[in-house]
Amino acid sequence: MMNQLPIIALDFESEKAVNQFLDQFDESLFVKVGMELFYQTGPSLINSIKSRGHDIFLDLKLHDIPNTVGKAMEGLSKLNVDLVNVHAAGGSEMMQRAVEGIRKYNKDIKIIAVTQLTSTTETMLQQEQNIQTSIEDAVLNYATLAKESGLDGVVCSPLEASLLATELGESFLKVTPGIRPLNTSTDDQKRITTPQEAKALGSTHIVVGRPITQSDNPVESYHKIKESWLG
Ligand code: C5P
Repeated sequence: MMNQLPIIALDFESEKAVNQFLDQFDESLFVKVGMELFYQTGPSLINSIKSRGHDIFLDLKLHDIPNTVGKAMEGLSKLNVDLVNVHAAGGSEMMQRAVEGIRKYNKDIKIIAVTQLTSTTETMLQQEQNIQTSIEDAVLNYATLAKESGLDGVVCSPLEASLLATELGESFLKVTPGIRPLNTSTDDQKRITTPQEAKALGSTHIVVGRPITQSDNPVESYHKIKESWLG
């Protein structure tokens, strides 16, 4: 069963850097492995992180025809991960096949959908994707489709979490990046909240990267965020 801890985004370029980071902690964590790392280190890194006792969000954002995503998810189902994701834009059939695939060898893996990337602006939505609604409506539409397709939740901004909690329920997962504790750099994130605010808005999990990974004292920064999040 997936834990409730803040999810640390392991945005490092090598397995060595990941290990140096994880060596500092003597407790179970929840970490996120993204494309940059997975495409270089593959399943072996997943195994080594698991052997340290951590939960893993494998953030590969699959998006292809239903058969391809279904088969790819069957492969990921053999890895020892706890949470995976797809792009809701792939459609309901793709999402259903993704759920079937990921559950093939492990019924406990949770699967969530990316609705609209936070890098997508309303202008891009309307002019490039030709979706003539607000970002919020587009997110709600895809989140509803994800729920109807049998997914466990979505990745979203904490600022969208309260709407999704009202419309789709509190237990539907709302995994939210864009988290910054008070008095830390916002980096390139624009729409941010503190861990406490994210919780109040209905986030079920927060994803935090640079405030921990680039900190002078990652363990201390992590514990402050964890306390603020868990309350
Ligand atoms: O360093 P920072 O806390 O901004 O890292 C946030 C993590 O969440 C990064 O891995 C980033 O790619 C990811 N992410 C995000 N916004 C999304 C989806 C994922 O910031 N909408």
